[in-house]
Amino acid sequence: MAGTRAPEDAYTAAPFVPEGAGLDALREAAAGCRGCPLHRDATRTVFGAGNPHGRFLLVGEQPGDQEDRRGEPFVGPAGKLLDRALDEAGIEPGDTYVTNAVKHFKFEVVPERGKRRIHKSPSLREAAACRPWLEAELRLVDPEVIVALGATAGKALLGSSFRVTEQRGTPLVVPGHEERGPCLVATVHPSAVLRAKDRDAVYGGLVSDLRTAARALR
Ligand code: URA
Repeated sequence: MAGTRAPEDAYTAAPFVPEGAGLDALREAAAGCRGCPLHRDATRTVFGAGNPHGRFLLVGEQPGDQEDRRGEPFVGPAGKLLDRALDEAGIEPGDTYVTNAVKHFKFEVVPERGKRRIHKSPSLREAAACRPWLEAELRLVDPEVIVALGATAGKALLGSSFRVTEQRGTPLVVPGHEERGPCLVATVHPSAVLRAKDRDAVYGGLVSDLRTAARALR
């Protein structure tokens, strides 16, 4: 019915984020998040996972099909590629906490393409709505280095003018975290490597940016 939906700029997870909660309580609360409409079609909230005190906090875009089914970030093909790139860059998986800018899978089903759920990019508003979860994770994990994987993560952390092509691969400051905050290194999303024609070159760029992140440890 017209007029009963919240306007997009009113989307926010803020009322669902419990104050003073630890990561486990946040994960539990996030399971019930209704801060934007993406929860309606997704199977579940996919919250961050990994070392709660990891020196690296990796931020992707949103869970994909397999993550939505399994409830963990980066467990599908992009995650396998990311694991390999982290290993080549000398970043221990045990030293990472991995999450997404948006915690629900956004997709469409195109009847001509069968029953497959096709990834759709989240809007800036949906990412902004989800930001209170990311802020809470950042505060609790308190990493030394944030790695933003792709444009959605970069924009969620640095603002809508962020451009991967221009800002990748150099240590940056996160607005609001200038004082002894973590540094941020942006790079391409692992899915962009999987889609690229010149896969080896794009993969090499990802590994090189991750090496920059590894060198940025305090
Ligand atoms: N792509 C992402 O950005 N995050 C995931 O968790 C999986 C794929």
